[in-house]
Amino acid sequence: MAAELKGLVLSGGAGTRLRPITHTSAKQLVPVANKPVLFYGLEALRAAGVTDVGIVVGDTQAEIEAAVGDGSALGIRATYIRQDAPLGLAHAVLTAEEFLDGSPFVMYLGDNLLRDGITELVDRFRSSDAAAMILLQKVRDPESYGVAELEDGRVTRLVEKPKEPRSDLALVGVYMFSPAIMESAHAIRPSARGELEITDAIQHLIDRGLQVEPHEVTGWWKDTGRIDDMLEANRLILDVLETRIAGELTDTSVEGRIVIEEGARLVRSSVRGPAIIGAGALIEDAYIGPYSAISPGVVVRRAEVEHSILLQDSRLEDLDARVESSLIGRGVTIARTSEKPRAYRFMVGDSSTIGLV
Ligand code: DAU
Repeated sequence: MAAELKGLVLSGGAGTRLRPITHTSAKQLVPVANKPVLFYGLEALRAAGVTDVGIVVGDTQAEIEAAVGDGSALGIRATYIRQDAPLGLAHAVLTAEEFLDGSPFVMYLGDNLLRDGITELVDRFRSSDAAAMILLQKVRDPESYGVAELEDGRVTRLVEKPKEPRSDLALVGVYMFSPAIMESAHAIRPSARGELEITDAIQHLIDRGLQVEPHEVTGWWKDTGRIDDMLEANRLILDVLETRIAGELTDTSVEGRIVIEEGARLVRSSVRGPAIIGAGALIEDAYIGPYSAISPGVVVRRAEVEHSILLQDSRLEDLDARVESSLIGRGVTIARTSEKPRAYRFMVGDSSTIGLV
């Protein structure tokens, strides 16, 4: 392939399934092991030698721009492409037509995470004549994804979120395209859910007789759009953490894989990894258990946390039962008070879930 590959990262859309965390903020910036999901994708592109990257953004543009900037800290050159409404993945491709300017490109969905990166796959595409390369993985709930049907190793049909899937091969959110995809994106019509589906555009390539090369991904892959997947991704990344302790520990015991960032303070506490504790966090008379990601500025005092993600500046204080499998938003406080009358006092955003013991 002659022309240089560009990157197209999709970071617009509405994060309905992670509400309320994503009512006002971008789902691609929710941290996994204290790093925004989006950064893993941008780093994977850079590692594959793709540095000219267009980032499709919507309502959360300001927030994404504040986090990624010009991309230089991540080794890429970022160009922001505004999509006025989340009208589908193929619509995002059309919106980026000027940026792509006839180049082949790697499209990366900003909420996807692949353990083994994409370098090998991108190299394979570079030396292939295919119009597209799609990545597939067997899943237990194919109806939640785009699904591919294969015959003798060739892709015959692609369907977006079929009610009755005819295969368990889901489309992973990383695609490689030759410029031929643009014509197909122009040709298709909106789906029943009102979106221009990339799945339909790829089907259109097949219908035109062009080659679509499938590749099964064997390492783990997560679409972090749902809380369970988010916690699972957090678990998988924390599992390969390298221990680094820069914070200040007083009467505190730690075991397992642990990162404690500079400026974090741990007092009379116990931490069992894998876990990460961000800069400026305060952990006092507390227990931080396996698979916890504690963001910068968080306070956990006289409380226990396990298998959870706590976002920036949240506080957990004086809790009798352990907090588990939870995603706690920015600036949230959960605390017991001695105020009378004894009562639950909540100020909770839309679509929140609270489990009490
Ligand atoms: O994760 C893999 C799946 O991603 C595939 O199996 C499906 O075939 C594909 O359609 C897609 O499904 P989702 O329903 O998970 O897509 P979602 O709406 O979550 O959007 C994926 C990313 O693209 C997300 O970071 C938001 C962004 N996006 C989405 C739309 C619809 C945009 O930037 N613009 C858009 O118009």
